[in-house]
Amino acid sequence: FNEKKRMPEGFLWGGALAAHQFEGGWNAGGKGPSVVDVLTAGEHGVPRRISDKVEENEFYPNHEAIDFYHRYKEDVALFAEMGLKALRTSIGWSRIFPNGDEEQPNEEGLQFYDDLFDELLKHGIEPVITLSHFEMPLHLAREYGGFRSRKVVNFFVKFAEVCFDRYKDKVKYWMTFNEINNKMDVRNPLFLWTNSGVIVEEGENAREVMYRAGHHELLASALSVIKGKAINPDFLIGAMASHVPIYPFSSNPEDVMLAEESMRERYFFPDVQVRGYYPSYALKEFEREGISIPFEDGDAEILKRGTVDYLGFSYYMSTTVKSDMQDDTDGKVFNGGLANSVENPYIKSSDWGWAIDPTGLRYTLNRFYDRYQIPLFIVENGFGAVDNVEDDGSIHDPQRIDYLRSHIEAVKQAVLYDGVDLMGYTPWGIIDIVSFTTGEMKKRYGMIYVDRDNQGNGSMQRMKKDSFEWYRKVIESNGEEL
Ligand code: BG6
Repeated sequence: FNEKKRMPEGFLWGGALAAHQFEGGWNAGGKGPSVVDVLTAGEHGVPRRISDKVEENEFYPNHEAIDFYHRYKEDVALFAEMGLKALRTSIGWSRIFPNGDEEQPNEEGLQFYDDLFDELLKHGIEPVITLSHFEMPLHLAREYGGFRSRKVVNFFVKFAEVCFDRYKDKVKYWMTFNEINNKMDVRNPLFLWTNSGVIVEEGENAREVMYRAGHHELLASALSVIKGKAINPDFLIGAMASHVPIYPFSSNPEDVMLAEESMRERYFFPDVQVRGYYPSYALKEFEREGISIPFEDGDAEILKRGTVDYLGFSYYMSTTVKSDMQDDTDGKVFNGGLANSVENPYIKSSDWGWAIDPTGLRYTLNRFYDRYQIPLFIVENGFGAVDNVEDDGSIHDPQRIDYLRSHIEAVKQAVLYDGVDLMGYTPWGIIDIVSFTTGEMKKRYGMIYVDRDNQGNGSMQRMKKDSFEWYRKVIESNGEEL
């Protein structure tokens, strides 16, 4: 394999962000509180607390984030200098519908994204937009139980329609829900809360609650695809799944089969969104576990008609399972959140315990492409680490460059050697932002440093890391120069 080769013309090199992790301005321009606005700060091993409402004297890291809301022109200019062809971000749902159930959208919120998309397009940067990246209006979660309620399907579809219609000439690439499948890990309440606005009550079957809310999200996604295509047939509307491939610990057939079965945790949601029907292994699970899904007449038809054009996914790490292992993780999330995960002796981890496995990305691209035969889009990949500013203001991040280089090499192999159809690559947190799982600033992914710490102190000044220039050259050479 010739590593010097370039990627195909038109490949979308970019960066990825999510509204709630970088915009700030949490109550500016008429925005209502969202489910992340009540998440306190945590750290590695210390979960974020979901408070009932926004409490006085509590620190909420997403409220100000990195204040992109007020600094977007300056930041977009830096993205342009880096040469980004695409920026993946999301629309804060509660900026557009502050409570979620209003008749009319909030014009100031809509205007903010008009201005942002104009600014991106002015610099030749294609917006790639996720409709919901953990940003459900808090009111829908508190008053309706989030996606437990079918009414929230309609509220979401209305939000989607308003966005599709408003930005139909500015945005071509869309995704419905971010990491729709991460809530399969029901042991961590953060995922169901941020995906679905759902809290599992004492005595409830968490998996059933998750599947029931998930059914409503699948309908909301499919209905949005149908509406979006009617508004602009040229839209490309994708799904977005979190992918952590699961390896067998050994060649013991029991380990192999366990890994295969565990992979259904990852595949279930994209299976429905890409193929348009529930997979047979899920139907068997519902039967076995007595799980009832709120299926109504017409739902099957909606799922069938609302399949996606492409599959976007995030890839950070792999995990490994072993069949003869007891669950001794005591409910802790361990490298991908599976009960019988074990450390992979061939793979090193980041300081946050995330396995660094570039080959896992090539493996993922191949498995997805074999399974679905539709275009793929890597919309998140990256390395969260501590960065230090030197006395002269320089920031050396060789580990991040190594991580990205090795993953891009794997991407090139998948595309240029294996023949996978890949639309683009948008590494996560192109500028430092608030971490989702921990709420920290010190877990940095960016190629642009932001002077802000875990407690919210700092000047917010933006500074280039070494990876900035490195990635600029990668893009300029269309992947040839790594
Ligand atoms: C994905 C999310 O789970 O991973 C992002 O889509 C998130 O929102 C990213 O930020 C990295 O996770 P973390 O916890 O390191 O920020």
